[in-house]
Amino acid sequence: MNLKGYLAERKKLIDREVIKYLPPFPKFGFRLYEAVKYALTVGGKRLRPILCLASCEAVGGNLEDAITPACAIEMIHTYSLIHDDLPAMDNDTLRRGHPTVWFQFDEATAILAGDALLNRAFEVLAEWNFDCKVKIEVIKEISQASGMLGMVLGQQCDMDAEGRNDVSLEELLFIHRHKTGKLITASAVAGGITGKGSKEEIEALRSYGDKIGLAFQIIDDVLDVVGDQEKLGKNVGSDIEKGKVTFVTFYGVDGAKKKAEEEIEKAIESLSVFPSQKVEPLIKIAKFIIEREY
Ligand code: IPE
Ligand code: IPE
Ligand code: MG
Ligand code: MG
Ligand code: MG
Repeated sequence: MNLKGYLAERKKLIDREVIKYLPPFPKFGFRLYEAVKYALTVGGKRLRPILCLASCEAVGGNLEDAITPACAIEMIHTYSLIHDDLPAMDNDTLRRGHPTVWFQFDEATAILAGDALLNRAFEVLAEWNFDCKVKIEVIKEISQASGMLGMVLGQQCDMDAEGRNDVSLEELLFIHRHKTGKLITASAVAGGITGKGSKEEIEALRSYGDKIGLAFQIIDDVLDVVGDQEKLGKNVGSDIEKGKVTFVTFYGVDGAKKKAEEEIEKAIESLSVFPSQKVEPLIKIAKFIIEREY
């Protein structure tokens, strides 16, 4: 299996599908629709939906069954980026190689576009024509991961830590596991639930997601320092400018990379309950997380 080709093909699938979940164009207030469409179509790796699909397949489920949760997760992720870039948060102007939503439109529109995407994601899940018990489990998983004890809490902690020099490693790990790890974990778990995986398989996916999620944010911290803005498509040096505490602050670039590599090794170990040919994509995605330049 060629990972580059696999990722490109799956990204194309998500690009095509996610846009179908937009509601009809409204009669008034179409600036909201324009902003949502802009955010959803300007790019992105689509890593979370790809994980959701791959996890569904890993437990023996059908790819098609996981398209709806995969797209809902991408909508939630995109909303989180729109809000993360706002002046009140990271105050960034470049995202996915284009001006951030607030910069391209305006702040109020960016807030509302984020709200719209978050709500639409759950509307899409509620309308999903699928086994109701599974559906509720998936909704629970995604909502918990995104919400007040998940990503949103992580974002609060990230803001609270800004400019402080007394942030402990324990607090930093909490921030990364919540602001980024939770939704990545939910992507894998939601795929596993959709594919009707066993309890053991779901817990393996949860452990895998937790570890790749942490590694993903560690490498995000590294790329903010050593990444190429062109390839990355977002502002580099943003963390230092805002006085963010990151893994690079703690361990330096090489030390942070090493920590991420350790997490990826553990993530791959978590998958040992599966027959190896079932989890080849998940293993390669895990390795991609530390090798990526974007
Ligand atoms: C960026 O996520 C935000 C973080 C959680 C670090 P991605 O790097 O997955 O962003 P896109 O979706 O590819 O633009
Ligand atoms: C963002 O972390 C996490 C979420 C959007 C929830 P960062 O603030 O480090 O992400 P980037 O670097 O702006 O993509
Ligand atoms: Mg941020
Ligand atoms: Mg940011
Ligand atoms: Mg970052």
